[in-house]
Amino acid sequence: MNSKLIKTVIEDTLTRHKSTGEPVNNIVKEFTAKFRLGSRDRNLVNETIFNIFREKPWPNWFLELMKSQYNSEFHDLELSFRKRARPVLAVDLRFSSLMSTIEELKHQEIECAFSKFSKNALILSNHKVDLSKLEHCWWMNDGSQYVALQIKSDATQFVLDLCAGKGGKTRIIMETGAKITAIDINKNRLTLSKGVKCINADGRFFKSKQLFDWILVDAPCSGTGTIRHAPDLFGRLKLADIQKFAKLQTDLILNAAKLLKPSGILVYATCSVLKQENHEYIEGLKLISNKQLLPNRDDTDGFYIANFCKETN
Ligand SMILES: C[S@@+](CC[C@H](N)C(=O)[O-])C[C@H]1O[C@@H](n2cnc3c(N)ncnc32)[C@H](O)[C@@H]1O
Repeated sequence: MNSKLIKTVIEDTLTRHKSTGEPVNNIVKEFTAKFRLGSRDRNLVNETIFNIFREKPWPNWFLELMKSQYNSEFHDLELSFRKRARPVLAVDLRFSSLMSTIEELKHQEIECAFSKFSKNALILSNHKVDLSKLEHCWWMNDGSQYVALQIKSDATQFVLDLCAGKGGKTRIIMETGAKITAIDINKNRLTLSKGVKCINADGRFFKSKQLFDWILVDAPCSGTGTIRHAPDLFGRLKLADIQKFAKLQTDLILNAAKLLKPSGILVYATCSVLKQENHEYIEGLKLISNKQLLPNRDDTDGFYIANFCKETN
């Protein structure tokens, strides 16, 4: 470990983040590559900087929104957001099992616990895992896995994943054997495996003759539910963004509703804790159920999940 180099990377990252607001992870990746530092040093730099951000006060606009929404729970919620999230793996149960993964993790002296939110999840006793030695696993918060598990499709059904991104949730939905179409506006993020029809498109305008039994709208959002993983969030997130997200989310849901079979279910989700983004009322849709996961209550990231069906009259 070269402590002088590490100090330089930390200082340079903080300076650049202050002027650009770029995610710390990205800057650290670039600088550690430039100075040829390994992954262990990169993690050390990241965590050192994140610990600095975990101490920083939140912007006033966010404090006001949170206090007015969470009232007496606000204090506990803030404390939990200032801690490091526990490490959670998702296991692809088509190719592996929780028990075999637990056995593999034992060799790395890591203990595991189950999650009440996901049958695919293992909560690890520490972050120092060599993922390359584990097959069919990836990092994914159990709150995020819970979202994917709301799609209770079967092999005869059609599923649309309207904001599929890199496909963490799609991968879990694939376990149901359903016929999946995955859309994302960002071509580079659509890196899904075979068996899924991938389309690079804007979900607000996507049209299809095929209607869907299940639609997941895992919407772009403020990410305020994931502050534990991204305590540098407020370098780039501003109050005006919340309204922009709310509009984009509504447009995505309204288009999804047009693609839903009359008997279909639309699952809307965000990793936001703000009610401005966590919609309950959408024209033409009826709310069946909704839930807000929170780190202080559930020890997951902050996720909002709402199940809608078409309004019948
Ligand atoms: C919360 S992320 C999705 C994460 C993904 N479902 C997963 O589990 O890995 C939101 C995604 O929405 C995509 N997105 C943003 N605007 C969009 C639009 N208008 N149409 C479709 N996708 C969009 C982003 O590129 C991003 O990948």
